[in-house]
Amino acid sequence: MDESEFLSIIALITAQTGIVPRESHKIGIKNFIEKRLKEIDTQGLPYHSYLRLNKEEFDLLINAATVNETYFFREEAQFQLLKDKIFPELRAKLGTSPMRIWSAASSSGEEIYSLYLLAQSLNIKSECIASDINSSVLEKCRAGLYASSTTKKIDGAKFHYLLAPFQKADKSVSFPAAVSNKIERKQLNLSDQAAVFPKDLSLIFIRNVFIYFTMEMRRQILEKIVNESLNSGGYLFVSMSEIASIEKSIIPKELEKCSDGKVFYFRKK
Ligand SMILES: C[S@@+](CC[C@H](N)C(=O)[O-])C[C@H]1O[C@@H](n2cnc3c(N)ncnc32)[C@H](O)[C@@H]1O
Repeated sequence: MDESEFLSIIALITAQTGIVPRESHKIGIKNFIEKRLKEIDTQGLPYHSYLRLNKEEFDLLINAATVNETYFFREEAQFQLLKDKIFPELRAKLGTSPMRIWSAASSSGEEIYSLYLLAQSLNIKSECIASDINSSVLEKCRAGLYASSTTKKIDGAKFHYLLAPFQKADKSVSFPAAVSNKIERKQLNLSDQAAVFPKDLSLIFIRNVFIYFTMEMRRQILEKIVNESLNSGGYLFVSMSEIASIEKSIIPKELEKCSDGKVFYFRKK
């Protein structure tokens, strides 16, 4: 594969997903393509043309091109704020209606299970949705089986007591169907303006994904979330390390930036 063919493929990834791969990720993408070119018959087409005609192949490439790192109760300070302030406030506001929660770039699901378990522990009825562009991580979320490496001692450990009922002796986590069936899963490309975003949400976690997008793409996604998904008085969290990279000019006027100690978040007016 020559350099111009590779650049066409990277341009296609960016056009279809919003992801602008970093130099370090490009190496992995190149290795994946070279492996695939040995395995498949593109019938004489350059790989970028083959990708345009073959959605399954494009999905495989995206599964290889995305960075899926995640773990339970990541950024525990945010979970502490949910526990102490935001969940009680939303519960009082919602009454008997369920609290709808969306993990909008869920990866393999540790984030949405963390949110579900926290809500359960506070006797809050929730409806939880996990979405991601990557089909293989969503399959992992469906299975609900996690190696011990998806818990971290330095961050999130404060809430590991909520995982304890589902942990085996080796500390791996296995959710029974009664729990995993509570999570709705959806393959969804956030950068697709025609995508149907979940509606009527009280809480959206969209963490550690904006870093892969251009500022304009971040703006479009925030606007679509505010217009289509987040209820008034609802909350939106990005990762604590991303908050500084959300320029003021791209924040929709309906979203106010709030802080509590070192935790920053957004609330829809
Ligand atoms: C680093 S993980 C973040 C997981 C979790 N939110 C967390 O903070 O631990 C980033 C996720 O964003 C997903 N992603 C990347 N581009 C996306 C897009 N255009 N639409 C939806 N998900 C996307 C990736 O597949 C990956 O699973």
